Amino acid sequence: MSSSLDRKQQAWSALFSEPVDALVQRYTASVDFDKRLARFDIQGSLAHARMLAAQHIISSQDLAEIERGMAQIQKDIVAGSFDWKLELEDVHLNIEARLTQLVGDAGKRLHTGRSRNDQVATDIRLWLRDAIDRIQVALGTLRVSLVDVAEAHADTIMPGFTHLQVAQPVTLGHHLLAYVEMFGRDAERLADCRRRVNRLPLGAAALAGTSYPLDRAMVARELGFDGITANSLDAVSDRDFAIEFCAAASVAMVHVSRLSEELVLWMSPAFGFIDLPDRYCTGSSIMPQKKNPDVPELARGKTGRVVGHLTALLVLMKGQPLAYNKDNQEDKEPLFDTADTLLDTLILFADMIRGIRVNAQAMQSAARKGYATATDLADYLVKKGLPFRDAHEVVAHAVRACMQTGRDLGEMSLAELQALHPAVRADVADVLTLHGSVQSRAVPGGTAPEQVRAQIAKLRAELPG
Ligand code: ARG
Repeated sequence: MSSSLDRKQQAWSALFSEPVDALVQRYTASVDFDKRLARFDIQGSLAHARMLAAQHIISSQDLAEIERGMAQIQKDIVAGSFDWKLELEDVHLNIEARLTQLVGDAGKRLHTGRSRNDQVATDIRLWLRDAIDRIQVALGTLRVSLVDVAEAHADTIMPGFTHLQVAQPVTLGHHLLAYVEMFGRDAERLADCRRRVNRLPLGAAALAGTSYPLDRAMVARELGFDGITANSLDAVSDRDFAIEFCAAASVAMVHVSRLSEELVLWMSPAFGFIDLPDRYCTGSSIMPQKKNPDVPELARGKTGRVVGHLTALLVLMKGQPLAYNKDNQEDKEPLFDTADTLLDTLILFADMIRGIRVNAQAMQSAARKGYATATDLADYLVKKGLPFRDAHEVVAHAVRACMQTGRDLGEMSLAELQALHPAVRADVADVLTLHGSVQSRAVPGGTAPEQVRAQIAKLRAELPG
């Protein structure tokens, strides 16, 4: 990168009488981070140039020159040999300057009927659309992983918790399907966001539109947009689509974070429910016995930064008058980092979940220790004619008796239970087992293995194979 400013290289040079201060140049430049828009910048420029030629605004020779130059530039960028210049501010001016160097006047005609304002809005939308599509694939893969493990554990019993206290037995399959639902809604949110991302801003020019007879619909078609933006002031200025994306990404990361918290707990020797594959863990430099679940911990931590990016974009937008303001240059780093973080996290989780080793024995005995079938006993008494509140009271006495003698409800004798209430019969044994308990919760959406399997079948039909 050259350090001194050559005014002649700049698109807006004629008016200025002194060089830009070096720190100002560094402060205002975005090329270091927006160069990753290059592929989309070129794609957008080619679509614009083809339309200009079709509308006879530039000649077909100019178009051919532009296409030739852009092909070279694309090649150089991919090869890593493109010379990005800080004094050319951003990705747009860098590419345009190089194009002009390569093909002369045709390069200077490319910017006809266009501004960097509608150009950058177009580039970000193309970039974000691509990012959303990748994230959707990763979300689908993660959901398939969860469904696969859920299917293998449709009958594996674990404690279900409320307040992190053992509540009622559930199956691990049921528990994992809860996350499949969460990630399914995340996919819906992203698909909905994509519809609003996928509109073409080009044609808005700096802010008011342009006097050239542009065919915006043609450019939209060429770039795969669903349509064009309807107001030029809005098109160059609002970044609500990026905010929306970061909001959807934040919710998805919050879901990942909840799952992470559970994995961390479950892997703690105090629970001992699961073991994570070694490739997702690290050891301690001082305590030789430790195996730390770094990936879920970091995912939980990175959720904070994604939520932070959402806040950054909201605050970035809130004070801006119409139309474009340079503030918007600050949209890119939070947006890029949000998409990168979410995508990496989802890819890692899809593989990690598949590699979980489950200690079914530990899960089951944790459920047994927590009097998880107490509600089942109460429900049993209700079915024998007791009002629910009275049944609740009887079971509380039963639990107390068990606590005093260090036993589970299923270990009480029939005589003991009958002493608590005469309505108890021998068939009580069916509801006091963990298996009987989950089996009985066969309402749609419930934890009964048959319901879990029915839900898995439905999900299989909608998820990638
Ligand atoms: N680098 C700028 C951005 O990211 C491109 C648009 C600049 N427009 C302008 N009028 N200075 O927003």
